[in-house]
Amino acid sequence: MPLHGTRFQQNPGEMYRKLRTTHGPVAPVELEGGLPAWFVLGYSEVCQVESNPGLFARDTRRWNAWDRVPDDWPLMPFVGYTPSLMFTEGAEHRRRTGAVGDALAAVDPFELRSACEQVADGLIDEFTGSGQSDLMAQFAHPMPLRVMARLYGMADDEAGPLMQDLTDTVASDDGVAAYQRIYDRMRALVETKKQRRGPDVPSRMLDHAAGLSDEELLQDLLVVLTAAQQPVAYWIGNAIRLMLTDIRFAVTFTGGRRSVGQALTEVLWEDTPTQNFIGRFATRDTNLGGQRIRTGDMLVLGFAAANTDPHVRPDFYSDSIGNDAHLSFGHGEHGCPYPGPQTGEVIARTAIEVLLERLPDLALSVRADDLVWLPSVWMRGLAELPVQFSPGVPVR
Ligand code: HEM
Repeated sequence: MPLHGTRFQQNPGEMYRKLRTTHGPVAPVELEGGLPAWFVLGYSEVCQVESNPGLFARDTRRWNAWDRVPDDWPLMPFVGYTPSLMFTEGAEHRRRTGAVGDALAAVDPFELRSACEQVADGLIDEFTGSGQSDLMAQFAHPMPLRVMARLYGMADDEAGPLMQDLTDTVASDDGVAAYQRIYDRMRALVETKKQRRGPDVPSRMLDHAAGLSDEELLQDLLVVLTAAQQPVAYWIGNAIRLMLTDIRFAVTFTGGRRSVGQALTEVLWEDTPTQNFIGRFATRDTNLGGQRIRTGDMLVLGFAAANTDPHVRPDFYSDSIGNDAHLSFGHGEHGCPYPGPQTGEVIARTAIEVLLERLPDLALSVRADDLVWLPSVWMRGLAELPVQFSPGVPVR
């Protein structure tokens, strides 16, 4: 079965069910360009892969199909090796990810919450007067980027061009040049922080006992920025969609602080942003989910499929309140590192709470069925989220 094309777009759950019925928890699939991979759909099989980094490793150079990959392969941005923390393994990975985790964990939670409120208010001010908005472009996407830019000690006016470059890396013919501009911005940031430290993530990473080189620091700042931006943006968008379209949330919508948390958790179970992820590479021949895996085979982690595995969730619509056992942040040594999930949650939760306070009569301006999901196998999120509300006045 091809793991690409528009069939995944509107109803990926149906595709996962078909794959599971035909092949069980681990399915042979074809990526774009006809390249082979194993798609891991079972909850316990995803855990098994993620808990065994010695057997299922992270360095993409281990892949046994590189000789078949064309230079212009569309998945190269996910699979092409870079010297970032993502593709390191073992002690080297722990050194790099430790610096990221410590630098993020040192962010004061009250300052983070306050930065999120200021950013959310500033974004809403830009469109509140018009009574309408595409919340993906005007709110969900810039929200995590602007917060992360603050944590990086960047000036607020640098966030706009950075957001444009990030958008262009995926949505324009100028992708390579846009990526180079982001790289140059990070290099300039590293140089600035080397001259003058500040109360920010890059400065803490510079002074960390991991002793990062300039190139390591630059690469890892890039990874953290991109690893935060897209998942948090789609988490915000998917949760707002749920709250605007599901009657269970409509009841509590205007007073909805509690329901924001419920919507965020439910999205991680039902429409998780990082729905599929490349991946891991077998370090030796082995068996998984009834399939024979060869050394160097690629495994795609099916987080969304695992979250709805009937073996762990026999009742698909069972209540997700208070249950955080989903795999939406990955798991194990290479999972989303502490405090990535917590930081992402503060950004997403604050964004939606401020939005509800500022625009209490927020409503979709299209029918729920007309909302369009991204044509992506990898990210689950809306292309646009058109809404309307009573026009307000800026507060800042
Ligand atoms: C401020 C927010 C966030 C930060 C700073 C962050 C950071 C990171 C980093 C640095 C990695 C690479 C880890 C490694 O290779 O060792 C990562 C991986 C990952 N993150 Fe996050 N992240 C954030 C939010 C999120 C959110 C909201 C989601 C999903 C809802 C998410 C899902 C993932 C997943 C699925 C992986 C891959 C896990 C694996 O390979 O097992 N992250 N994240």
